[in-house]
Amino acid sequence: MSDQFTLADNAAKLILARTPLRPKVGLVLGSGLGAFADSLTGATKIPYSEIPSFPQSTAIGHAGRLVIGNAGSVPVAAMQGRVHQYEGYSAQQVAFPLRVFARMGMNSVILTNAAGGINLGYSQGALVLIKDHINLQGTNPLVGPNDDRFGVRFPDMTHTYSRAYREIAREEAAKVGLILHEGIYAALLGPSYETPAEIDHLRRIGADLVGMSTVAEVIAARHMGLKVLAISCVTNMAAGILDQPLSHAEVMETGERVRTTFEALLKAVLPRVAQPM
Ligand code: HPA
Repeated sequence: MSDQFTLADNAAKLILARTPLRPKVGLVLGSGLGAFADSLTGATKIPYSEIPSFPQSTAIGHAGRLVIGNAGSVPVAAMQGRVHQYEGYSAQQVAFPLRVFARMGMNSVILTNAAGGINLGYSQGALVLIKDHINLQGTNPLVGPNDDRFGVRFPDMTHTYSRAYREIAREEAAKVGLILHEGIYAALLGPSYETPAEIDHLRRIGADLVGMSTVAEVIAARHMGLKVLAISCVTNMAAGILDQPLSHAEVMETGERVRTTFEALLKAVLPRVAQPM
């Protein structure tokens, strides 16, 4: 079997052969947030099933296709839906699309996700810039032999979420009068939501948000030196904060409700994130 580098390279070549665009920024759009990809112009849409080695998403609310198109004047490649470890994929498989982005020549990625709000200063619908993460998924996409063509064996994670990109996001949010919080994202395996005791624990160890995605992708992105911006939508307050059960329907509804605001923020940051720094 071919190695990940060759597989990613092959997938990248196939994608680039199907579009005249050369995307500058990769987007990973989370639950209920995938509609942004529908607003891209001059778009080529490629179902994941047509991309060799690409994992197929099974989650509801994840369309499962790569959309290459222009956001304003910025060519981007947007994943409409992602896969998760809770679907049975390895962290390496979850991170594979990021490997492909890098082989396509992109240096920057923006990831979005739906998250539970642990920080009591947040409310449902809040947008939160991820400034750091706590990986509690019990695995890592870099487990196994290291491929030096991607990056070093022990990549630094000190500056994982680009300070410059966070500054850009804060500035653009301020311009449109949008409140953008900043917080630490704890990633769990899922698929069950957390217990109230787990949420208390996560708050004590410094987490502001909880979710089941993003960190494997971010680790692989940093391994390859991609610059990362990540934004969570607080689709619900985490378990035990409000006296009500959590549901996927609520997560999707909130994603839909903040969609316009979220899309405006993405549109505003993209031209600046696409600039070489
Ligand atoms: N917990 C974990 N993942 C999530 C949540 C949550 O409360 N909301 C959206 N994704």
